[in-house]
Amino acid sequence: MKAIEIKPDIYWVGAIDWAVRDFHGYVTPSGTSYNNYLIMDDDITLVDTVKYDFAEVGIKNISTIVEPSKIKNIVVNHIENDHVSALDRIMELAPDAAIYITERGKKGIERFFDISKWNINLVKTGDELKTGKYTLSFIETPMLHWPDSMMTYVKEAKLLISQDAFGQHIATTARFDDEFIECASHAELEESVIDYYANILMPFGNLIKSKIAQIQKMGIPIDMIAPDHGVIWRGEPERVLEMYLDMANGKTNLRVAIIYDTMWHSTEIMTQPIMQGIKDSGVDCKVIKLRATPMSGAIKEFWNSRGCLIGSPTLNNEVFPSVAEFMTHLRGLRPKDRITGAFGSYGWGGGAVKWLYNELSSMKLETFEPGVQAQYRPSPDDMDKCYEFGKEFAAKVREYHSKYE
Ligand code: FEO
Repeated sequence: MKAIEIKPDIYWVGAIDWAVRDFHGYVTPSGTSYNNYLIMDDDITLVDTVKYDFAEVGIKNISTIVEPSKIKNIVVNHIENDHVSALDRIMELAPDAAIYITERGKKGIERFFDISKWNINLVKTGDELKTGKYTLSFIETPMLHWPDSMMTYVKEAKLLISQDAFGQHIATTARFDDEFIECASHAELEESVIDYYANILMPFGNLIKSKIAQIQKMGIPIDMIAPDHGVIWRGEPERVLEMYLDMANGKTNLRVAIIYDTMWHSTEIMTQPIMQGIKDSGVDCKVIKLRATPMSGAIKEFWNSRGCLIGSPTLNNEVFPSVAEFMTHLRGLRPKDRITGAFGSYGWGGGAVKWLYNELSSMKLETFEPGVQAQYRPSPDDMDKCYEFGKEFAAKVREYHSKYE
């Protein structure tokens, strides 16, 4: 896609990755984009680069506006590979460019590139760079989502270039939120925001709240948010800020996600009466089989539900491997504001349900115990117990959810 002017003399010069389906383990069924921005001012400034595989695409986009050697400044908002791995290629073309980066960012790129000949300038929150008619103001956002992360605010354009924050993994010819809503839907866009937040930003809710509060306290007017992935928010930038604040404050649906795996279908059979009990209590429910669902999809369903029941058979006295994998992902995302429980089947010695409760408790999640178990094959009595367990859990979820209303 060619360069696109997003504000007077400010261009999107990124690349669309239509094919990526595995983004470091995060399944991206719609692909993604690597956005970066070229400010055509007295001092030509590039904000971020693209993933190395797309370096030539990005350079071609820049070249339609200006000869890359004329780039005077490069702002590095974030050093993860998808945004910085083309930096050395840009530096080959513009070796005299001054790089603006946080201290932690510099420590990071030293591990990737030989920066001994590069003109590196360290910046922190409040520092400014005048490029001509535009002024760039830097806002550090450490651990959102890497230690080096920062955002760049272009004052006169009221434009916040927000790196990963407010992004979405979508490959689309639409460059703006309103364009995407017109060619796809509002719901699809918001689902993409939720998916991205759940899988990348879930651990950082408190930081997100304080950072948004800090930005609001700075009193900077924002009429466009340009993230490093997906569409640019020009139609309703306030909506994505509101969504982030809601998610950081623990807002989610009154719903239960039953996330399970199964060996010989016994645990799977148990999901049906549990689901029915939840449904009969007036609470929405989704049933997700792990080996039939990408991990990031299961995480999103967890995130989208106030309650989660995790089901596993016992295998060799342990939890089932795919369930353990899910729990490892979940633990890393440091979930909060959810109530959980466990169920499962076993042959001669249980173990999985106990293991699950230990894990859920160690994540400091609210638990509803002791769960429900069935030996070998769920009997009619077991099925009744599952149904009652579903009903009781739904009541607990409703009660827990009311704290967030
Ligand atoms: Fe899109 Fe943290 O990289």
